[in-house]
Amino acid sequence: MSATAMSTRPQPIIQVENLKKEYGEHQVNALKGVSLSIQPGEFVALMGPSGCGKSTLLNILGTLDEPTSGQVLFQGEPLFGKNDQAMTAFRRKELGFIFQFFNLLSTLTVRENVSLPLDLEDRLPDSERAAKVNAILERVGMSHRADFFPATLSGGEMQRVAIARALVHGPTVILADEPTGNLDTENGNAILKLLREISDQENGPIILMATHSEEAAACAHRIIRMRDGQIRHE
Ligand SMILES: Nc1ncnc2c1ncn2[C@@H]1O[C@H](COP(=O)(O)OP(=O)(O)O)[C@@H](O)[C@H]1O
Ligand SMILES: [Mg+2]
Repeated sequence: MSATAMSTRPQPIIQVENLKKEYGEHQVNALKGVSLSIQPGEFVALMGPSGCGKSTLLNILGTLDEPTSGQVLFQGEPLFGKNDQAMTAFRRKELGFIFQFFNLLSTLTVRENVSLPLDLEDRLPDSERAAKVNAILERVGMSHRADFFPATLSGGEMQRVAIARALVHGPTVILADEPTGNLDTENGNAILKLLREISDQENGPIILMATHSEEAAACAHRIIRMRDGQIRHE
């Protein structure tokens, strides 16, 4: 590639270089040298069978776990090596998480669950916070359930609320671990369509979604296939 072409190429949001993860005494090599790069605007499916290392990779990118070796760059800066405070601030500002089992807090209403990431930013005025929560609930089609508790919702509705919570603070990266793994086909497809729409909107977050479903992966812009702790290049 010429120097000119390189300078017009956008900087990747995430760049992973030769990432390895070994778990403890059992000598499990969960990641055996993974390299990948994700550009602004991309919705990438991380696809592979159970145990291939998808969650391990997402957890490291989410700074919930540290690699044994290798490097992760976030917008060109090393992700690890910061102090705890800086790491927490990074996680709260830049990341949104979506899980298989939704992970909503059962004692809080829908509105309160979605508001949580904003409550950590104490400088935001109440009116602004409420407006952001209302707008994002509207976006995921859950405004009519704002004052309900999670236990009264269907799985698909719970996942919509979880998506709203992951998005409300305007993160750069959404990490979704098997987001349709606990939903029936119809609800799963609706959630995938919503994720794709969110990704396709202007200045939307990048989405990295772990899945073992070929059908779910097909909704992404690009599929990265993993097997046994490695990326498969076919
Ligand atoms: N905390 C842990 N301690 C030991 N081994 C682990 C731990 N977490 C995951 N593993 C192992 O690492 C491998 C990859 O797991 P995981 O990333 O959860 O795969 P996937 O999400 O693709 O199903 C598996 O062999 C799993 O048993
Ligand atoms: Mg997993």
